[in-house]
Amino acid sequence: MSEVIVEKYEGYAVLFMSNKKKRNALDSELSKALINKAKELSADNSIRAVVLTGADNVFCAGADLDEFSAALAKDALGHYKNREVDVKVFDIVKIIGKPVIAAVNGYALGGGFGLACSAHIVVSSPMCKFGMPELSLGIFPYVIFPYVIEAIGKRKAASLALTRKIIDAEEAKKIGVVYEIADNPLEKAMAVAKSIASLSPAVLKLSMEAINNDDSGDSINSKYLSLLRIVNFASEDLKIGIDAFKKKIKPEWRGK
Ligand code: COA
Repeated sequence: MSEVIVEKYEGYAVLFMSNKKKRNALDSELSKALINKAKELSADNSIRAVVLTGADNVFCAGADLDEFSAALAKDALGHYKNREVDVKVFDIVKIIGKPVIAAVNGYALGGGFGLACSAHIVVSSPMCKFGMPELSLGIFPYVIFPYVIEAIGKRKAASLALTRKIIDAEEAKKIGVVYEIADNPLEKAMAVAKSIASLSPAVLKLSMEAINNDDSGDSINSKYLSLLRIVNFASEDLKIGIDAFKKKIKPEWRGK
């Protein structure tokens, strides 16, 4: 069962992503819940900062590969409809519209890496691992790519996507994904959120306007990437890649 747990404190909230059996993979239930909670927190004037973290010592293992497998049977229109949830979940930081601190407490892979890159501040434990393994499965990380580019620049984003290198917290800090490494990232992120919540609410609103008034991400055409993703879903090699992941074997690509 997947769910989002919300804890509210004086001035800030903590969102826990939970999908116990799948390393907090983003299935459609978890994605919908995250989008709904993001909307609620956006509208809640008592909340001025949000911490995003994962339950059970994992941040998030990306999209749910079982749902990917099931989705392969869908036609193009089905994929188009699906994108409402699949794509929008990576916009939760924008939807919240308030400072978001990601407390990364384990693997942040694929979509999990994208969520970390979309946050304003990332606090990570020294043991965390970050990366985009998608191409090994037969798919490009289309939807998160604009956020990754915004966080670390196009060349580093391309290098990580193409090499599928899994980096540690130190390296993630060096390239700018992680702001701070802390033994207890949740505790640290909550302290940061508490400190932000103590600022003038009026000036904090203006600050978020200033921070969001940056159109660098808009130069990447997210709609086009989303379209390429639908085309990729028609590829036989995606099925082969996911099957290989499940069977823990090397994929035999057919080039189709
Ligand atoms: N979607 C669906 N199920 C997933 C998942 C995902 N993204 N990530 C992990 N799981 C499942 C595994 O299939 C496994 O299920 P099982 O117990 O039924 O065999 C369970 O979660 C535990 O995963 P496992 O790989 O055994 O754990 P681990 O601790 O050795 O490794 C990860 C953890 C995160 C490194 C590894 O699970 C992984 O690489 N996941 C996929 C990451 C990825 O490619 N994300 C991009 C998706 S587009």
